[in-house]
Amino acid sequence: DWNSGNVIAEQVDRIRAQVGDAKVICGLSGGVDSAVAAALVHKAVGDQLVCIFVDHGLLRKDERRQVEEDFVASTGVRLVTVDAREQFMSALAGVSDPEQKRKIIGREFIRSFEQAEIDLVKEAQSEGEPIRFLVQGTLYPDVVESGGGSGTANIKSHHNVGGLPEDLQFELVEPLRTLFKDEVRAIGRELGLPEEIVGRQPFPGPGLGIRIVGEVTAERLDLLRDADAIVREELTAAGLDQEIWQCPVVLLADVRSVGVQGDGRTYGHPIVLRPVSSEDAMTADWTRLPYDVLARISNRITNEVKDVNRVVLDVTSKPPGTIEWE
Ligand code: XMP
Repeated sequence: DWNSGNVIAEQVDRIRAQVGDAKVICGLSGGVDSAVAAALVHKAVGDQLVCIFVDHGLLRKDERRQVEEDFVASTGVRLVTVDAREQFMSALAGVSDPEQKRKIIGREFIRSFEQAEIDLVKEAQSEGEPIRFLVQGTLYPDVVESGGGSGTANIKSHHNVGGLPEDLQFELVEPLRTLFKDEVRAIGRELGLPEEIVGRQPFPGPGLGIRIVGEVTAERLDLLRDADAIVREELTAAGLDQEIWQCPVVLLADVRSVGVQGDGRTYGHPIVLRPVSSEDAMTADWTRLPYDVLARISNRITNEVKDVNRVVLDVTSKPPGTIEWE
């Protein structure tokens, strides 16, 4: 029988056996997976762990503060934040292809870590301890979809499994590799993480970068961040967070349509709402959101977000549509 206490005890033993006395780093994405993975490793090896949070500029509103304040307060983990926003923006300049974006984001992410590692090793040189391990919150569905577990064809190169550079110098610690999302949440609760983090809806590693169909620019990111914040605010206010697995908000940056706003014609971009219900992200159905909630979201986005004059609803299940648009 599956029991979160047993899984924790088993993983703590495994982590200790794998890591020994070496130092470990863990990247926090802001999501539940990396937070639970980090909390598990922290339980196993304590201060041997240092967490690194890369601000790649593809985060949602308020996400950095939540990691730096809420996660740290609940775990006592040591955290280093890397501001890599400019690095990511220049690496992504001119790129529209989804797989290209994912590869670039994955590559820059690892680069940021290596730089952070160099800094941390220098700092810890008196202890003479290199940082040899990297924790990743890889789940079972990520392993399967990237063809890493069962020989299934590669659907998308998830950046926490595929797309890593060949010369990766860290050995991976992946304590969630056999688990589904609901099991990870149960473990997080058992470990005492706040509900705010444990109950969080999934958000992809490549962040808002794969929710802009077209080139990623700072201006487009700001626009999408505003629309996404409105959607999350309204869904929470309507008490719908438990019903929805996640609700990607997508900017169709390469599409324009004609509209009329105020006293003039506009030629703006559409925002797509992609609310889905799911058990494990392997399959999903589109969530039948109440019309009044959709109306409020639509009104607010078209009124409050610059250059957006249309809101559309994605009514595709998975399969055939994936949850993310890229
Ligand atoms: P798809 O779009 O493949 O997404 O139906 C399934 C789930 O995975 C999330 N997702 C990712 N998570 N790195 C991640 O950590 C990624 O590259 C990535 N791509 C998609 C997606 O948000 C959904 O929950």
